[in-house]
Amino acid sequence: MIRLEHLTLTFPDGDRRLTAVDDVSLTAHAGTVTGITGPSGSGKSSLLAVAATLIRPDAGRVMIDDTDVTALSATEAARLRRDEIGIVFQQPNLLPALTAREQLSVMNELGAKGSRGRRRATAARADELLDAVGLAGHGDKRPHQLSGGQRQRVNIARALMNDPSVLLVDEPTSALDQERGARIIELILRLTAELDTATLLVTHDLVHLPRMHAVVTLVDGALSERALAAAPA
Ligand SMILES: Nc1ncnc2c1ncn2[C@@H]1O[C@H](COP(=O)(O)OP(=O)(O)O)[C@@H](O)[C@H]1O
Ligand SMILES: [Mg+2]
Repeated sequence: MIRLEHLTLTFPDGDRRLTAVDDVSLTAHAGTVTGITGPSGSGKSSLLAVAATLIRPDAGRVMIDDTDVTALSATEAARLRRDEIGIVFQQPNLLPALTAREQLSVMNELGAKGSRGRRRATAARADELLDAVGLAGHGDKRPHQLSGGQRQRVNIARALMNDPSVLLVDEPTSALDQERGARIIELILRLTAELDTATLLVTHDLVHLPRMHAVVTLVDGALSERALAAAPA
């Protein structure tokens, strides 16, 4: 479960401050996808960055299960991200030299002492996730041998390597055509159910919203009441 409580985030803007996130509260439960939509510049990515503990808010707090993650030190927040949070950014920032399987396993080898048993378990988990995202048999391919949609699938699989309780996804379909985009949304819905993550999914593509368990709309950083009233229960 992730709960955002009265989050406000501002950025310096000349001699004033720009309010990117304006008193936003929402709760997402395990096994559900909450869609976050709104025009460009409405604060969607900023909200995800705060939820991901990458930026500290000016006010409000982020609860993950029973932990107030806004109160953590930088070291504790980094550990929490490693153990509990999966993050999928807009562009799959894969390492050109690594195979799909290595993109995933490198996550578990960062900062860990590599025993042979652990490496085997990591490789098995990587293959299981590649299979889950429809890339069984593509584990040995490097990014340039994969299509845009396949690279985004590797990106999603990589975010799940740590078996996160919270999955944060920012506009995963923006570089894809309609059909490939729809299949990526399907995939995120299915994985959320299978892995029981609390998922926040940013998209400005309205066609995907009816599939989600809840939808919120941001306008100028704030939740829009009118759009909320129209969202599915
Ligand atoms: N690092 C930053 N420094 C200053 N302003 C920022 C920064 N990141 C975002 N903003 C501003 O915050 C507002 C919200 O941006 P963003 O969260 O990226 O919106 P969205 O993802 O909905 O397009 C915009 O006005 C943007 O220019
Ligand atoms: Mg954005």
